[in-house]
Amino acid sequence: MNPSGGLFWHLHAWRHQAQWAAACDDIAQWLGEMPPSKDKAPELVIVGASAGWMMPSDWLQSFATVTTFDLDRWAAPLFRLRHGAALRASNTALHCNTADALTDLDAVLQAHPRALVLFDNVLGQLRFHTPSVDEASRRITSITERMHGRRWGSVHDAFSGRTQRRTGTASAPIMQRSVQAPAPAATSTSPSAQSAARPVALGRFSRQLHAQGEWLDHLTDHVFPAGTPVHHIAWPYSPDYCHWLQAGWVTP
Ligand SMILES: C[S@@+](CC[C@H](N)C(=O)[O-])C[C@H]1O[C@@H](n2cnc3c(N)ncnc32)[C@H](O)[C@@H]1O
Repeated sequence: MNPSGGLFWHLHAWRHQAQWAAACDDIAQWLGEMPPSKDKAPELVIVGASAGWMMPSDWLQSFATVTTFDLDRWAAPLFRLRHGAALRASNTALHCNTADALTDLDAVLQAHPRALVLFDNVLGQLRFHTPSVDEASRRITSITERMHGRRWGSVHDAFSGRTQRRTGTASAPIMQRSVQAPAPAATSTSPSAQSAARPVALGRFSRQLHAQGEWLDHLTDHVFPAGTPVHHIAWPYSPDYCHWLQAGWVTP
């Protein structure tokens, strides 16, 4: 069973499109801030594309070629169903692959040497695909190290957990921006040193999420190099469970 994709995920995403609209608008705004390409025919590679439930077709239309990867066998046909017509209209070539693009990342990067690479809500899922949290952290570090010298971006879970049940009229917290802080030195790993580095706006954002109890850490704290501009997005996965997404673009 796929712990972060599969039919249950597609059904859940399809049913919650209206509740996710504000989060998708925030993601669309961030996607629109991607680093510019010097290529006349820019290429995009999406890892963990699923059916592209949370991205707009018109952003994909700005590429000459879009190549997707996902482990889930339903992802490719559903991605084509959701975005295929728009991509045909913009003459964007679409290649959908059912494959493990993280284990084979070096081969993917070699096959697409100039592409912008988007990790699309997949790095925060690795703790569910890996036997231990230490191993998941090591995998994330090794993936981001291999992206050195490339244009890439990621939107991923930072934390997730229970919230006060939202009513239909409750407004979502607005997107916040910060800059990735350097990884704390070995001598300053105390929680107070880490929270001191956290911008005030993020403290306000976390309160606006109305968290209940302890939230799950998705181990993505240091996906981005220090200095990367990071967007913080509230994603109300279900009425009483919310994900705190982080999104950023990295340039060489
Ligand atoms: C939360 S979903 C992504 C949602 C998607 N970005 C969207 O907007 O619909 C995470 C996806 O990552 C995929 N995935 C997990 N590990 C993967 C890997 N090693 N290679 C490719 N896809 C992977 C899962 O199958 C799942 O479809």
